[in-house]
Amino acid sequence: SEPPVVESVPQAGRPGLRLLRRVGTVDPTSLAAYRASGGYTALRRAISIGPGAVIREVTDSGLTGRGGAAFPTGRKWDATARQPETPHYLVCNADESEPGTFKDRVLLEGDPFAVVEAMTIAGLAVGARRGYLYLRGEYPRALHRIRHAIAEARHRGYLGRDVMGHPGFHFDIEIRRGAGAYICGEETAIFNSIEGYRGEPRSKPPFPVEKGLFGKPTTVNNIETLANIPLILEEGAAAYARLGTERSTGSKLFCLSGSVRRPGVYEVPFGTTLGELLDLAGGVAEGRTLRAVLLGGAAGGFVRADELDLPLTLEDARAAGTTLGSGVVLALDDQADLAGILLRIAAFFRDESCGQCVPCRIGTVRQEEALQRLVRRGDPADTALLREVGQVMRDSSICGLGQTAWNAIESALDRLGLLTSTEGTA
Ligand code: NAI
Ligand code: SF4
Repeated sequence: SEPPVVESVPQAGRPGLRLLRRVGTVDPTSLAAYRASGGYTALRRAISIGPGAVIREVTDSGLTGRGGAAFPTGRKWDATARQPETPHYLVCNADESEPGTFKDRVLLEGDPFAVVEAMTIAGLAVGARRGYLYLRGEYPRALHRIRHAIAEARHRGYLGRDVMGHPGFHFDIEIRRGAGAYICGEETAIFNSIEGYRGEPRSKPPFPVEKGLFGKPTTVNNIETLANIPLILEEGAAAYARLGTERSTGSKLFCLSGSVRRPGVYEVPFGTTLGELLDLAGGVAEGRTLRAVLLGGAAGGFVRADELDLPLTLEDARAAGTTLGSGVVLALDDQADLAGILLRIAAFFRDESCGQCVPCRIGTVRQEEALQRLVRRGDPADTALLREVGQVMRDSSICGLGQTAWNAIESALDRLGLLTSTEGTA
């Protein structure tokens, strides 16, 4: 009942795509088709150069995590590989749940063998014999495709014992499904969920590279991050890093939604401006004018319509007071109900807080209440309360949910002047 994956990818089949190169053009259910389109050349090279050289390639490529936090992938792999304690684990975070994010689903449905190959390379690099793919429960087609790809790869010797005939290299993948909780996409909540406990985050440090799944050294990577790995191994770190900017290398998937003519997943090199990206999607919906863009999702921030020359890089987004996060680009036009959107964000965080720590459990409730009052009455005392509650959540919550639950609301207050003018005070 889900729409075909190509409908989510308006660029499907266009030349120059890298992460999306097979989506909509290569049969995602055929291992033979995957191999004919270059599949498994990266794993072959990875086996021939060995784990240390693979980690060096990934480090030199400048690849950073695409789940939202942009931590250097090579550093994570190296830190896991160096841990003396065994076994090591690999966890692939496919619990894509950030509102407005649907890029990993496109990769899982449209190029599942690439995910399997990339996980195998990551397993080789960090010394893991077992990888867990933690999949969002509401992605049935992705489950079907990735389950089939894993079974095919195992049947043909690309998973299991002596991978690709290489003695002593054993690696296999197990799928675990989430059950609808947003917080179970937080990496340490994933560990608890896999281990059979409540999906609540653990305090960090220790970081997963030291103590992760079952208390053992673990690398956690997002699907899009992994999708870059075969490219890096195929063309080499230097060639990979030529695309993008010095500090944001490669290309990035963005999820365009809201008031654009052709919503969907788009791939562009880092450094493309926000305006150019919106143009790819046909610009703002007919008869409307752009008011702002929510960049980076609920934990991100707003970019005004007069700031569309913002280059989409990690460093430029940070300097502009936002983040690229998981690639959310939500366009709001002149008729958008900004206050309503913020109220939905506040309700979302209140609802999805796991309740484990007080600042977030209570803070997300107080935040929603204060925002509701502010929208109704426009009283500056509620703005002050929002700022105080937001700062406490940011400073003292255990995990990213509480730490970022106030980002979009703060950004709207500071950058769009929410409720200081006409909005909500009628
Ligand atoms: P984080 O900054 O705590 O960690 C990022 C990654 O780097 C983690 O894997 C962490 O273990 C690792 N790391 C950080 N410091 C380290 C160190 N010193 N040594 C070794 N490893 C280290 O961020 P977090 O909480 O994992 O992710 C937050 C982001 O997730 C937000 O930016 C948000 O945009 C994004 N997010 C994405 C969602 C999605 O559906 N894709 C859903 C919700 C949030
Ligand atoms: Fe749970 Fe919120 Fe605390 Fe995270 S910050 S552990 S979601 S209560």
